Amino acid sequence: MAHSSIQLRPWSLNDISDLVQLANNINIAKNMTDAFPNPYTYMDAEAFVRRVSTEIPQKVFAIAYNNKVVGSIGIFPKEDIHRKNAEIGYWLGEPYHGKGIMTEAVRLIVKYGFETFDIERIYAAPFRNNKASQRVLQKSGFILEAVLRMSIIKYNELQDETIYSIRKVDYIGEGW
Ligand SMILES: CC(C)(COP(=O)(O)OP(=O)(O)OC[C@H]1O[C@@H](n2cnc3c(N)ncnc32)[C@H](O)[C@@H]1OP(=O)(O)O)[C@@H](O)C(=O)NCCC(=O)NCCS
Repeated sequence: MAHSSIQLRPWSLNDISDLVQLANNINIAKNMTDAFPNPYTYMDAEAFVRRVSTEIPQKVFAIAYNNKVVGSIGIFPKEDIHRKNAEIGYWLGEPYHGKGIMTEAVRLIVKYGFETFDIERIYAAPFRNNKASQRVLQKSGFILEAVLRMSIIKYNELQDETIYSIRKVDYIGEGW
């Protein structure tokens, strides 16, 4: 279901208290890289917003649902021989899970990514046990490419990582 009530917009310093309230959550942190802090403090939020709000072109967006900030999504172009690729990463505040919000946000960032950067492939790397994230990617036209066995360690536990991607040719082919 397409959500017209979902927008990607720049992070603002006015969002900091909402950001802390949403992001300070172990149920989010446990599915993220260690760059996502837990506990997530006011200082973490301020440093994040100051960093991402000055990038040109913009790479990290606040997800707004009915004009309220509910999560974050970013696209990160790679370098050197991987320069035709970009990785996406995202999280949503727990009260907003299961409403189709991230599926729409992923579709929006894919469109932005292919229109903004000179890339041929966008990928994401959810942990294998993160079924909700994998489902979001499947619903957004991504294809499972690989399972990297025990390639990550999170909170002292080895885990498999999955690689999902969408290619520009397929994205255009779908006529988004
Ligand atoms: C993963 C996450 C972004 C999903 O966002 P969301 O807005 O709830 O996702 P959507 O509502 O668009 O879609 C979720 C889908 O996963 C399914 N799902 C949820 N939990 C599931 C589970 N445990 N097993 C299988 N499917 C599951 C839902 O049923 C839905 O699929 P459906 O539409 O076919 O029913 C959100 O849960 C989150 O932020 N989690 C914590 C951080 C995180 O994991 N970030 C991603 C790192 S790769």
